Amino acid sequence: MSISKVVIPAAGLGTRLLPATKSQPKEMLPVVDRPAIQYVVEEAKASGIDDILIITGRGKRTLEDHFDRSIELERHLEAKGDMAKLAAVRSISDGPATYFIRQKEPKGLGHAVLCAEKHMADQSFAVMLGDDIFVSEPPAIAQMIELYNNNPGIIIALQEVSDSQIPLYGIVSVCKKQGKALLIDDLVEKPSLKAAPSNLAIVGRYILTPEIFDALKSIEADKKGEFQLTDAIRYLMGSVPIYGYKFTGCRYDVGSKLTYLTTNIELALMRDDLRDDLRKFLTELIND
Ligand code: UTP
Repeated sequence: MSISKVVIPAAGLGTRLLPATKSQPKEMLPVVDRPAIQYVVEEAKASGIDDILIITGRGKRTLEDHFDRSIELERHLEAKGDMAKLAAVRSISDGPATYFIRQKEPKGLGHAVLCAEKHMADQSFAVMLGDDIFVSEPPAIAQMIELYNNNPGIIIALQEVSDSQIPLYGIVSVCKKQGKALLIDDLVEKPSLKAAPSNLAIVGRYILTPEIFDALKSIEADKKGEFQLTDAIRYLMGSVPIYGYKFTGCRYDVGSKLTYLTTNIELALMRDDLRDDLRKFLTELIND
């Protein structure tokens, strides 16, 4: 069976973006003209996903409201004859069924995924991090679903990172290449440059098999009291094939102040309605 369900964890505290994230999930912070998580949901929709589960935490109301219909706003736009904005607003709540579950305490990404256990009902599923925007054609998660269809198992999106970035990511060790699928024989969370087995970093897209839930219940919390998804994946090594996949396309992280700003600029420069004016502004700013 192929992948039809996705879980989008969006319950982290977003401390790197404080104070903006004090009462607002970082996934709801605007990137150009829409919340970051809307890009993620649009990628899921474009990949044929028909069931989206968003894991929420504090400040959950804005997330739920955003993906709900806003009849009052629709009526207002309709009365004004602003059909373009009406279509943009309607498309947010159209399409796949969207569900919400609350992670009661932010006990890590692994713990957030565990909250999806009942919903996934023994099926393999995708995980898309709500603060990681992927721009690619076909969409990154669609590329991974295709790989999964030929290589059933856990699939982890990988990206080559520079030496200075290695200690910020989970890093994998690849033992064998099977076409585009890279068989993984180890993964290390945030290693020192010396201890890193490669420069291939785990980034925000995964396909997981249902065995992950028992693994998440079997692992210990880390020093910060968080349950890491990478620890659960490592726990399954040897019993479930674990593949890495170097996706085609670009990835934009909105999780830190600098990358949040650069993501806004890069995505705005991709837009026909903003590119020229923004480029002019940036050029004048730099030449000043
Ligand atoms: P991050 O580690 O990037 O998010 O988690 P964070 O903990 O919110 O960030 P900082 O370090 O404090 O700034 C990656 C993804 O996992 C979700 C986050 O919302 C983010 O989309 N997450 C993380 C949860 O859903 N629950 C958690 O307990 C932790």
